[in-house]
Amino acid sequence: MSNFDTYWDETEEEVEECAKRLADAERQGPSIAWNEYAIFVIHEELHTAIHEALEIEFDKGSGLHLDLPPAHIKADFAMAMFPLASTLGTSPSELADTVAKYICASDKFRYLASAESIQGYLNIHLNQQRVYQSVLQQVLMLGANYGSNPEFEDERIFIEYSSPNIAKPMSIGHLRSTIIGEVLARLYERSGAHVIRDNHIGDWGTQFGALLYAYQESDLDVDTSDDPIEELKNLYVSFTERAEADPELQERARETFKRLEEKDPDLIAMWQHIREVSIREFEGVYDRLDIMFDLMVGESYHEPQAAYVIEDAEKQQFTHRAENGALVVDGIKRFDTFLMQKGDGTTLYLTRDVAALAYREGLFAPHRILYVVGNEQSLHFQQVFTLTRALELIGTVRVEHVGFGLVRAGGKKMSTRKGRLVTLSDVLDEAVARAERIIKNKRPELEESQQQDIARKVGQGAVLYHNLRHVRTKEIDFDWDQMLSLEGESATYLQYTIARIYSMLEQIEDTQRAMNMEAPELRFDSDIEFQIAKHLSMYPWILWHAVHQHAPHVLCTHLEKLASLFNTLYGQISIKNTYDEDLKKSRIVLISAVVQVLENGLEILNVPVPEKL
Ligand code: ARG
Repeated sequence: MSNFDTYWDETEEEVEECAKRLADAERQGPSIAWNEYAIFVIHEELHTAIHEALEIEFDKGSGLHLDLPPAHIKADFAMAMFPLASTLGTSPSELADTVAKYICASDKFRYLASAESIQGYLNIHLNQQRVYQSVLQQVLMLGANYGSNPEFEDERIFIEYSSPNIAKPMSIGHLRSTIIGEVLARLYERSGAHVIRDNHIGDWGTQFGALLYAYQESDLDVDTSDDPIEELKNLYVSFTERAEADPELQERARETFKRLEEKDPDLIAMWQHIREVSIREFEGVYDRLDIMFDLMVGESYHEPQAAYVIEDAEKQQFTHRAENGALVVDGIKRFDTFLMQKGDGTTLYLTRDVAALAYREGLFAPHRILYVVGNEQSLHFQQVFTLTRALELIGTVRVEHVGFGLVRAGGKKMSTRKGRLVTLSDVLDEAVARAERIIKNKRPELEESQQQDIARKVGQGAVLYHNLRHVRTKEIDFDWDQMLSLEGESATYLQYTIARIYSMLEQIEDTQRAMNMEAPELRFDSDIEFQIAKHLSMYPWILWHAVHQHAPHVLCTHLEKLASLFNTLYGQISIKNTYDEDLKKSRIVLISAVVQVLENGLEILNVPVPEKL
């Protein structure tokens, strides 16, 4: 696309430059393919066993999957045979029986040792020694890359997230989008994809007619104000209250927006200034959260392109001009009518989104585009996607609205004592302040600067993690105590476990030597040690689920369980007082692997890890 005014900060050349730069960008470090991970080999072996024992072809989509058995069953994994039995029209017990016998009789499997059939379930026993050895070696060998794989190596994934609105403080809802979007970006990168991070700033729309009109009338000056964003928001709120009872004011606002769309130079300058001030404030938050976008052009960038979309749409059977001149979409199945252009010729949120979608495919040629935006906009995105396809403005790109639930406090929208809506910065400040009080109390001996560093990481981590550990699509309740709890279900618990492992490693004088061992024969002599290794083996598989279902909480639950298994080990075994040298070394390797996986997971979740806690 070309031929439109460049009155925003990113010129067309700069955006194209960004597209080129991204195309050449380096990918993640080395990673291994799925089929090299122990957990995947176990899957493959089971697949082979079922295939050969039953002499059937079946695909991976036949509903069979590996599960952890309930506590009273003594087995390493379990698999329900019901789905396959119903496809084949036989009994699940018979199937499980045949497969179990086959596994027991065969010595071709590296990891499957034996199996038994119980009530339609196949209960699987692994060659624990081999699993233990190879999982720990894989973790140590791959280090920070353990869990990564090149599955999406050939894909470019465009992720739109955060997308706050200018002239308003960034809300807690935008925090959810920001943190979920960033984690999805990291998950895809860990799966080899080439990710484009886009922040679709809300910087255009009728509301800016109202805001600019009110700004002109007021004596507010964003350059001299202490809190320009808060004041702009108040200005807008009080104007809309007045306008509700005054059609004359509504008309002024409408007119102002029309003049803005016609690029009235004074209005554009004012708008641009407000935009800059707002973006500067947003960037402060992104810096704090260690988030960087590749692209931040915003809605305004797509306003001129919307003209082409409207031109196209006018020629279609499924649109008509209403009497007042509005362009109405009336013939798309599943939807009631909706507008693409207002009677006065100004553009709409929806139309700008259609233009943006077409533009993104045109310029970046992504394989997928994800929109990380609250559930409440679900109808909007269905309309955008359907309309853009109906207009044939996009080709093969897959588009998906990755929705999420609202954040509430005690069942209500969040607000401060003054009744002001709680902003993202307020929440981060509060979390850090609370963490600081806890640290000062628990670790008075630490230096002030160290306490502050810990408080920042703990406070920030707590907020981010709280947003991630809940099922994405559900509403979440803002619960400070749970967020900063040391008992589990929190970033603090994971950070604390990491700190505990490091201090253990420090106290064991052989650590360095054990870590440098070439290929130690690793040993374990208690069930908890093996359980931890098994859990570590599942990590790459968990990442697979998290990325495919866009479900960061799956990763959180896995890490929490890992930390709790480690804390059980800690209560049962003293590594320092393990007198068998080989066993001691193996245990050092085990806890080093635990800390590695916890760190890998928290890195994806963007939760910082303090050295001490
Ligand atoms: N700025 C919008 C809001 O705060 C979110 C933008 C969502 N993305 C989009 N392509 N419409 O509600």
